[in-house]
Amino acid sequence: MVTSTPSNQAANASPLDPSGPSTVSLEQHEVQKGVRQAGINPNFWYAVAWSNQLAAGQVLGVEVWQQKIALYRDRSGAVQALEDACPHRGVELSRGKVIGDHLACRYHGWEFDGTGQCRQIPYLPPSQKLPCAHAQSYRAADRYGIIWVFPGDQSLVEQVPLPGIPEFDDPQWLAVPVTGYFRAHFSVCNENSMDVFHGFLHEELQGWFDPVLLKLKDEGNAIVADYQVSYQGQMAKFLGFTESADEVTTKTVTVQYRYPHFFSQLEGVSSLYLMRLPVGLRESRSFAIFFLRLGLPGWLVQAVRPWAAKLIEQKIFMRFLNQDIEMMESEQRAIDRDPQRRYVEINPAIIAVQRMIVRQYRCFLDGQAKSEKYSSEKS
Ligand code: FES
Ligand SMILES: [Fe+2]
Repeated sequence: MVTSTPSNQAANASPLDPSGPSTVSLEQHEVQKGVRQAGINPNFWYAVAWSNQLAAGQVLGVEVWQQKIALYRDRSGAVQALEDACPHRGVELSRGKVIGDHLACRYHGWEFDGTGQCRQIPYLPPSQKLPCAHAQSYRAADRYGIIWVFPGDQSLVEQVPLPGIPEFDDPQWLAVPVTGYFRAHFSVCNENSMDVFHGFLHEELQGWFDPVLLKLKDEGNAIVADYQVSYQGQMAKFLGFTESADEVTTKTVTVQYRYPHFFSQLEGVSSLYLMRLPVGLRESRSFAIFFLRLGLPGWLVQAVRPWAAKLIEQKIFMRFLNQDIEMMESEQRAIDRDPQRRYVEINPAIIAVQRMIVRQYRCFLDGQAKSEKYSSEKS
C-alpha cells in the first residue's frame, strides 16, 4: 500500500471519530469547495496501462493529469517512461519507434535512452559532439499485469512503494481485469467508488440493497469505510455469495480510499483494487482488478481463468460500470453547465473523500511552493 512520504505527510488532517460509532449518521454536509477543479498529488504511483498493451519494441502514449508520457519497452523487456515531447522540436515521442534500448523520434530520428538522454542523431557526423538534449524521464514499473508511472518528484520515488495486491500471486483467486473510461473529473469517479448508497441504480441487475454505513475512519492517507450490504438473486448466487437465488445474505464491505486508489474487500469472498488515473479536468480512467474466491483448487481456477474472467467482466462488471458511467457523466455535465451551483450531500464518506482530494492537492502545491522558494533563495 502507498505510505506517507515527506511531501504527503502534511496532508494528514481532519481525523473523523477514531473509535467509530456502531453506525454513522447521515446528515447534511457542506460539499468541499474546489473539489471539481482540484488537481492531483503526483507523488504516488499511477496505473497507466495494462502490461499486455505494450509488447517489447512498442511505444504507447499515456497521460497522467495533463502530463503526456511516452512509454516504451526496451530490448530487455523493461518499461521506460519519457516526457512525450522531443527535446528537438517537441514532436510527441510516442509517435516514434524503438531501436534497441532507445526510443527514436519519428521526425529526425534522434534517439533517447531510458534516462531521456540523447544518444544518437542519424545525420550527425561521427566527429561532432551530440548536443545536450534531454527529455524528462519518469520511474516506471511493471507489476500485477499493470504498467505504473511515478509522475511526481523523482527524488521521492524510493519512499513510495507500489500498492500491494497480495491476491495477485495467489492462484486460488480468480482475477478479473476491468478497464474504465469516464468523461468526468476524477473526484466524481472517486465518489462513485466510495458511494455504496447507489444500489438503487443497479436494482434491475440485482446488485446490493439495504446499505448501512457502519464505520468511517480517516487514517491520514486513507479513508476507510465499513458498510453493511445485503445481496439476493442470481448475481449473488453466481458469485458464490449465496447458495440459492432467493436466499438473502448480509455482509460487510470495507472500502478504502488509499490515495490515489481504491481497495475494497467483501469478507474474504472478493476484493477489488481500483487504480484511478486522473487524465484531465473532464477525463479519467481506471484499471481495476476484481478477485473472486471460487473455493476451487488453484490449478482449476487458473485453468478456467481466461473464459471465466471474460464472462464476469462482460456479463457483470461492464453492465454495472456502464450504468455508473451514465450517472457520472451526467453529473459532470451538470457541473459544467453551472460550476457555482452547490449540491447537497448526506454521506460523510463522500465528504471525507472530497477532503482527501483537496488536501492532497494542497499538500502537493505547498511542497512545490516550498521547493521553488528554496531554489530561488539558493540562486
Ligand atoms: S523533432 Fe524529434 S528528432 Fe526532430
Ligand atoms: Fe455502481
